[in-house]
Amino acid sequence: MFRLASAITSPWINRYNRDTPARREARAVVATRLPAVVISGASRGIGLAMTRVFLAAGNPVLMIARNQAGLDAALAQIDAHERERCFTLALDITLPQAAHVIDDALLTHGCYLDILVNNAAIGLSGPFATHKSAELDALVALNIAALTHLTHHALHGMLARGSGGIISMASLGGYVPGPHQAAYYASKAYVLSLSEALACEVSGRGVKLCAVAPGPVGTTFHEEMHAETAPYRKILPELSPDRIASQCLSRVYAWSTCRRARRSLSPIFHQLARLAPPDFRADDQMASQKLERTTQIVLLPVIRFLCSNHFAV
Ligand SMILES: NC(=O)c1ccc[n+]([C@@H]2O[C@H](COP(=O)([O-])OP(=O)(O)OC[C@H]3O[C@@H](n4cnc5c(N)ncnc54)[C@H](OP(=O)(O)O)[C@@H]3O)[C@@H](O)[C@H]2O)c1
Repeated sequence: MFRLASAITSPWINRYNRDTPARREARAVVATRLPAVVISGASRGIGLAMTRVFLAAGNPVLMIARNQAGLDAALAQIDAHERERCFTLALDITLPQAAHVIDDALLTHGCYLDILVNNAAIGLSGPFATHKSAELDALVALNIAALTHLTHHALHGMLARGSGGIISMASLGGYVPGPHQAAYYASKAYVLSLSEALACEVSGRGVKLCAVAPGPVGTTFHEEMHAETAPYRKILPELSPDRIASQCLSRVYAWSTCRRARRSLSPIFHQLARLAPPDFRADDQMASQKLERTTQIVLLPVIRFLCSNHFAV
């Protein structure tokens, strides 16, 4: 049914996706370069796993993080035959000139930005009133402002060429207010909202957007914000960064002309979908979507409860 609706509506949705002289010119500018994937926060965790899957799929990858030693250590973990397509850039993406530094680095390696993965983010746990202003500023600068600037900058070139995509890491926490991680949850709600709105705006113009909203993932993220002992860490199942990354890749190759952004809670819901009876599981994607909606009604109040008791003694 969905495929039939998509086949009927696709020509209308893609009516602006025409090969104009301006588009041919924009493509000619990058014709001699390779389309690359740029991943922020790629030195560990989900960003490093994303680097591996995109490299395995044959894409050149530019890995970004602040710490060059961390990037070098990450690069050492990548298969030798893939390392020649993998470049690193030590950069704080909250700097105002970050987007231009990325463009220059891509040019140096004979590439252009084809897929942007907005992955870098920081968390902050504890009562909001006890946070220092500088901590809140750093969170907003990275999780919201840098993501917005890089997305805005990347969209210009992508829309001119009529191709490309942006994947932004949100979080399951983006769906609910999160007491004791209030600013972090709110920043992820921003990512979901921005991605969904932009996906509508650029729909049918050859550029795809996708927000990914995983539950807890096995990285050092929670430890770094001193939330390792929070109840949600004990109750919600943890997924591996590799799992999230391969799900993202499959979403990228399944990008359709659908008008809505692809909010993806997929890692958790794919696992749940596997537990479902075979009839329900027949279309894994649909099962995930049904579970996603059911869970918004059933599970999210539970998450809200767990979060509100985060620091209860
Ligand atoms: N882990 C989870 O449970 C979970 C769940 C849902 C969503 N997410 C989201 O998934 C994404 C990745 O999470 P993760 O757990 O993989 O994080 P992580 O392990 O803490 O890695 C964060 C990465 O971001 C880089 N980074 C931090 N600040 C930066 C800056 N200003 N400029 C450039 N790079 C910077 C870090 O390297 P440097 O320190 O060297 O800069 C590191 O490579 C985040 O958006 C997070 O919100 C995570």
